[in-house]
Amino acid sequence: MPGDRPGARLAIIAEDVPQPDLAGRAYASDVSATSVTIEPRWAVDRPPNRKLRFGIVGCGDVAHRRYLPALSEHAAGVEVVACCDSQPGAAERAVHTVDGWSPRATAYTDLAAMLEQANLDATINLTPAPLHASVSQACLEAGVPVFSEKPIAATLAEADRLIHTASARDLLLLCAPAIAATRRFQWLNQIVASQRYGPLTLVVAQYADPGPAAWREYTGDPTPFYGAGVGPVVDHGIYRLHAMTALMGPVRRVQAMGAIGKPERVVRGGPLAGATIPVTAPDHVLMNLEFVGGGLGQLLSSSATASTLAPWLELHFTGATMSFPGDQYDKDSSASLYLDDDSALGLEGWVHGIGLPPPLEARPVVETGVAHFVACLRGEEKPLLTAEHARHVLDVILKGYESVRDGRSHDTETTF
Ligand SMILES: NC(=O)c1ccc[n+]([C@@H]2O[C@H](COP(=O)([O-])OP(=O)(O)OC[C@H]3O[C@@H](n4cnc5c(N)ncnc54)[C@H](O)[C@@H]3O)[C@@H](O)[C@H]2O)c1
Repeated sequence: MPGDRPGARLAIIAEDVPQPDLAGRAYASDVSATSVTIEPRWAVDRPPNRKLRFGIVGCGDVAHRRYLPALSEHAAGVEVVACCDSQPGAAERAVHTVDGWSPRATAYTDLAAMLEQANLDATINLTPAPLHASVSQACLEAGVPVFSEKPIAATLAEADRLIHTASARDLLLLCAPAIAATRRFQWLNQIVASQRYGPLTLVVAQYADPGPAAWREYTGDPTPFYGAGVGPVVDHGIYRLHAMTALMGPVRRVQAMGAIGKPERVVRGGPLAGATIPVTAPDHVLMNLEFVGGGLGQLLSSSATASTLAPWLELHFTGATMSFPGDQYDKDSSASLYLDDDSALGLEGWVHGIGLPPPLEARPVVETGVAHFVACLRGEEKPLLTAEHARHVLDVILKGYESVRDGRSHDTETTF
């Protein structure tokens, strides 16, 4: 009987499993591999030893907190040559931040001027969500590959246009969140594909907290996160939707309910600290999903809960349940596995402390996205964070909000 075995690791899971490309989703052939694969298609054509020239659009909280430090890890082969922010002084602050490893960075307040003058190899779009599509579109039309923060766009028409432009010009367009590029999700994908515990039939996930207004370290304006076009699904439920679809494939049908749980918020940090902001879009959203492959999914996205101890992800196979009860922000947090047994032997019970076989995850999710984008531009990795996947997740979100409004279930229009 497995019983409780703290510290046990399922290293055996990585044994000889098949590695299909499920529903067109590619993943690394060996999650423990460290060797460099050559994928020349997206490699930037440049003289040997010339660093990749990056432009940052949107120099706010996440740029300083995550992206600029993440890019500095790649300073041997990457430099920031341009920082653009429409708010006076913001781009200069970013230029100052990267000065130690990117001394040639120039500040811009105008995106068109940056795209015309900076001779970029790549851009990272870190503007607020409602601007993602227009900024990425301008970058692609200027012939520059893009990594966009989530969501890819606000409408499917915008996402289609971005994908069409990138494809017509043969430009790389990748989108956060980088769930599918993490070793943990490549490992989970292999577990699912192995059928070791039977088919994966149900995924239950949640992302529930008070949202960015309660985040004391936040330096931006949290108002957009409580309004139409963002809300808890676009802000953070989207991480779970990427995870659920990475494992289960595309969604066929969406049913959702939403409500405003807390109509006003007091901002706890940043320049608006102490201000009261209105909540104008549902801050509790419950979604039921039916996947094309026949499985089901359920997601709670909330920015109106004080906290939760519920697992952030549970995978229900026919012969086992895998549960992630730990800190959702801890890239190394372990899972528990309940092994079921129909036989008279009664070999059923929880195994705790299950995690990736070594080596551990190299980076948290945002930093994984940056490393993956750089590796694709160097011709070392095949793109995993595809715009088609991001468009499908946007489709699921939009259908969810339609369902909140009209009380019906809605079929998706896209796949990946
Ligand atoms: N803050 C985080 O920890 C975090 C984490 C993951 C993802 N994100 C995502 O990153 C994006 C940015 O979030 P943030 O928290 O940094 O917001 P923010 O408001 O702090 O920063 C956005 C910046 O974009 C600038 N901007 C607005 N319009 C612009 C334009 N047309 N051209 C150039 N710059 C423009 C703003 O002046 C601001 O400085 C959002 O999509 C958010 O969901 C944020």
